[in-house]
Amino acid sequence: MPHAAILAVASYLPERRLTNADLERLVDTSDEWIVSRTGICERHVAAPDESTSDLAAKAGAAALARAGVAPAEVDLLIVATSSPDMLFPATACLAARKMGLSCPAFDLSAACTGFIYAIGQATSAIESGRSRTVLVIGADVLTRLIDFTDRGTCILFGDGAGALVMRASEKPGVLGVHLGADGSGADLLSLRAGGSARPCSVEALRDGDNFIKMNGSEVFKFAVRQIPIVTRQALQESGLTVDDVTWLVPHQANTRITATVAERLGIPAARVVERIADVGNTSTASIPLALDALYTGGNLHAGDVLALVGFGAGLTWGAAIVTWTGEE
Ligand code: COA
Repeated sequence: MPHAAILAVASYLPERRLTNADLERLVDTSDEWIVSRTGICERHVAAPDESTSDLAAKAGAAALARAGVAPAEVDLLIVATSSPDMLFPATACLAARKMGLSCPAFDLSAACTGFIYAIGQATSAIESGRSRTVLVIGADVLTRLIDFTDRGTCILFGDGAGALVMRASEKPGVLGVHLGADGSGADLLSLRAGGSARPCSVEALRDGDNFIKMNGSEVFKFAVRQIPIVTRQALQESGLTVDDVTWLVPHQANTRITATVAERLGIPAARVVERIADVGNTSTASIPLALDALYTGGNLHAGDVLALVGFGAGLTWGAAIVTWTGEE
C-alpha cells in the first residue's frame, strides 16, 4: 500500500489588512481587549473582486510551483471551505478552472476542521491507489459572512487560503488521522440562511441569519476539552506519544485556546506553532497558513513529526499526525 506524503505547503493572503484600531471605529471594543482575549492584532480581508475560489487558486498554484508539480499531474482536488463562492457549482471546480486543472474536484464542508478532514480524504484516496497526486486546499472568505456590528464575532475572523500537495510515496508521510463530529452542538456556531432549511428571504435578512452566529464561551470550552483528546487518539493510532511531536499545529482560533491545549497535552510553548496575531481565525486556511509560516521561517525539517489539529462548527474535530517529507 502506498503512503501519502506531503510534497509542499503554500498559502495566500489578500493584501488589505483590518486592524484592531479599524474595528474600534466599528464596534464597542478595544485593541487591548482583542489582543488579551484572543491574541489577534489584525486580519486580512479579500478585495471586493476576490472570492474564495480566487484565494484557493492562488494558494493551490503556489503549492504546485513549490512542489514542482504540473497541473496535469494532479488527479484529485479537494477544497475545504465554509464560504464557497456559491452553493454550486463547487468552489473546487471554479478554482480548478483558474489553475488549469482537469481532474475530479469537490468541496468539503466540515467548517474549521475542514482541512484535517480533507487531509483524511486525500490520504484515503492515495493509500487506496485511486489517486497519486492530490491538491488539498483550505480557503475561506469569512469576512463576507460576518455581522460587523456584532463584536462577539467580527473581531475574530479573517480571509486566507492554504494548500498542500500530497503524493503517493514509499516513505511514510501521513501516519494517522482521527476525525469526529457531534451534531448535538450544531447550534453553537452556524450560518442559518441561504440553504434549503432557510432560503434567502427578506425575513432571513431581517433576522441577520445571513451572518455567523456563535456562542463563543461554549465553543471555547468544547475546543479545550476536545483537542487534547483527539490529538492523543491520532498519536496513539500512529504508534506515537506527545513526546514524539516536533510541532503542534492547532487551528488558530484563539491564543488562549492554543495555550490551554498545549498545557493539557504537556507540550512546551516552544513546540507550538502560533499564527494568529496577523491573520485572525481564517477557518480552513488556518492550519496550512501556520504550517507555511513554519516552512518559510526555515523551521520545518525532514523527519519532523507534526500534529495538525482542528475543531469547528458541526461540531467537528480532527487530528492528523504527519512526518514532514517535503522540501526543507
Ligand atoms: N470587545 C470588548 N468586550 C467584549 C467583546 C469585544 N469584542 N466581545 C465580548 N465582550 C465582552 C462581553 O460582552 C462580556 O461583557 P460582560 O462581562 O459585561 O457581559 C465580556 O466581554 C466577556 O465576554 P465573553 O464572551 O465571556 O468573553 P470570552 O472571554 O469568552 O471571549 C471570545 C470571547 C469569543 C473571544 C471567546 O469566547 C472565544 O474565542 N471563543 C471561541 C470562539 C471560536 O474559537 N470560534 C471559532 C471556532 S472554529
